[in-house]
Amino acid sequence: MYSITPIIRGVASTPVVTLSPTFVVKCSSTVKSNVASTTPVAVVGGTGALGSALAARLAKAGVAVRIGSRKIESAAEAAAKIHAKLGDDNAPVSGHLNEDAAAGCEIVFLTVPFRAQSENLNNLRGVLEPGQILVDATVPLAAAISGKATRTIGVWQGSAAQQAAEMAPEGVIVVSALHTVSAVTLADLDQDFADDTLVMSDDKAAKAKVARVIELIPGLRAVDGGPLEQARVAEQITALLIGVNIRYKTHAGVRFTHLPDREW
Ligand SMILES: NC(=O)c1ccc[n+]([C@@H]2O[C@H](COP(=O)([O-])OP(=O)(O)OC[C@H]3O[C@@H](n4cnc5c(N)ncnc54)[C@H](OP(=O)(O)O)[C@@H]3O)[C@@H](O)[C@H]2O)c1
Repeated sequence: MYSITPIIRGVASTPVVTLSPTFVVKCSSTVKSNVASTTPVAVVGGTGALGSALAARLAKAGVAVRIGSRKIESAAEAAAKIHAKLGDDNAPVSGHLNEDAAAGCEIVFLTVPFRAQSENLNNLRGVLEPGQILVDATVPLAAAISGKATRTIGVWQGSAAQQAAEMAPEGVIVVSALHTVSAVTLADLDQDFADDTLVMSDDKAAKAKVARVIELIPGLRAVDGGPLEQARVAEQITALLIGVNIRYKTHAGVRFTHLPDREW
């Protein structure tokens, strides 16, 4: 049985990372820490635009990242590119087949096109175990069926995330996040965020764990979007945002105003 461990802990053996002065990881109600996790996270589809950018940002923050791909060569190549980008051959990023990347990782990000979501979840069925957290970032854009990227397609379960929850092995906790985070902005390591991302899950502890990892990226704030069923709303925002980006020729994100500070 997979045992779940706290992902962010201010323990002496973990590497200290320097984070922006405006950023604080809240490990508990009283302890503030700028120490990143040594527990690796996996990114299934980590060779893609969103996955590789996420991997680079998390690695920069000191999180060990296992990049997953259907081809080991592609995964290794993506990891090498991140090493080069960070200018650090020892950056904690490695390339694996998707199944090997996900096996045993407490948090597994799923960053694949919607049309490939079910195929990838099928492939992970024998690997994912109860207690693991699957972070679904897929958006059911109509582009998946040669339609417009400014439209979505209906998913019987209500959202891509709810479909993931139905397909994931029993006991795997699904969290939905990152839908409005631009891969382009994420990939530009010199660009600071002032963005929010909605995070949804029926498991509050898992949601908080994922939020803490996401907030290791300076300027990226995780906003509590409620239960997983709200993913059906969050996923639609991406289609709207793509239209805005086309009209304004940019890579806009979203920001909620007047939110008080949140202890995750
Ligand atoms: N791009 C963004 O700015 C952004 C922002 C928010 C959310 N999202 C969502 O995140 C997901 C990934 O987007 P992306 O832009 O990163 O996509 P992408 O660049 O096309 O990359 C996705 C990765 O998925 C993997 N994959 C696995 N099965 C696949 C299949 N059957 N066909 C094609 N690729 C497959 C591929 O890796 P291997 O070939 O190495 O296996 C590929 O590198 C999408 O659902 C998207 O809606 C994207």
